[in-house]
Amino acid sequence: MLRTLALGLATALALSGGAAVAAETFEPKTTDISFSFEGPFGRFDRMQLQRGLQIYTEVCSACHGMKHVAIRELGEEGGPQLPDDQVRAYAATMDIDDPSTGETRPRTPNDHFPMSGLENAPDLSLMAKARAGFHGPYGTGLSQLFNGMGGAEHIYSILTGYTGEEKEEAGNVFYENTAFSTGWIAMPPPLSDGQVEFADGSPNDLPHMAEDVAAFLMWAAEPKMMARKQAGFTAVIFLTVLSVLLYLTNKRIWAGVKGKRKHA
Ligand code: HEC
Repeated sequence: MLRTLALGLATALALSGGAAVAAETFEPKTTDISFSFEGPFGRFDRMQLQRGLQIYTEVCSACHGMKHVAIRELGEEGGPQLPDDQVRAYAATMDIDDPSTGETRPRTPNDHFPMSGLENAPDLSLMAKARAGFHGPYGTGLSQLFNGMGGAEHIYSILTGYTGEEKEEAGNVFYENTAFSTGWIAMPPPLSDGQVEFADGSPNDLPHMAEDVAAFLMWAAEPKMMARKQAGFTAVIFLTVLSVLLYLTNKRIWAGVKGKRKHA
């Protein structure tokens, strides 16, 4: 009895030890990118967001949805800022089953992007925030302020992290990816050099396109980032001015009292 127990314990220990070692040996790698929207004065690059939207539409939307993003946001300031007629035309390219009439109709700018068409492909609306953590939210928070939160970097690293190796497990194919948490991802390499053509002839090699679509997904996850940064900045200026005024007021109020003490 004791022997069986001891054996069981030893096996359990060996197994858990083994698992810990296996988990430790793989560290996903994230590449740091200097995105235009990082830093206290960072701004989204409108043309980059438009290119990212094109890549998302032509490539990623085949499997992934963005159901939390309203199509009309494409026309808002601080984002891709498409003209109204283009937003309407873009919306109309996607159909929706209208729940109120039960009929299928083209989408309007007030509808949201569709949900994922492929069951195991996660929705990308909030992915850039869900995978934050490269620079923050851990640590002092200052790093996050200056370097961004890392979600866009994670997406960039996934898109550029394929090694070309694949394996099959229980009928599913997995692709080796140096940025994915387990090292093997179920998404086939979605982007390759020259896959999308830009009207303005912008570079369309894999790294450039990965940056563009990562920036676009950061915007999708936080479309009000510019407004938030501006509000933060205004608050800092306001508080600084207020502090100076209070300091001076304080000095004035107590000037008489302090002065008397000195002479006493
Ligand atoms: C053929 C379908 C398909 C296409 C096209 C596709 N994906 Fe995926 N994607 C998947 C699947 C499936 C997963 C889930 C992978 C897993 O969990 O192993 C996934 C996962 C992801 C993830 C999550 C990674 C993580 O850390 O969990 C991101 C980010 C992503 N895709 C971005 C993109 C982008 C950007 C594009 C367009 C350039 C794209 N995908 C195109 C099928 C696709």
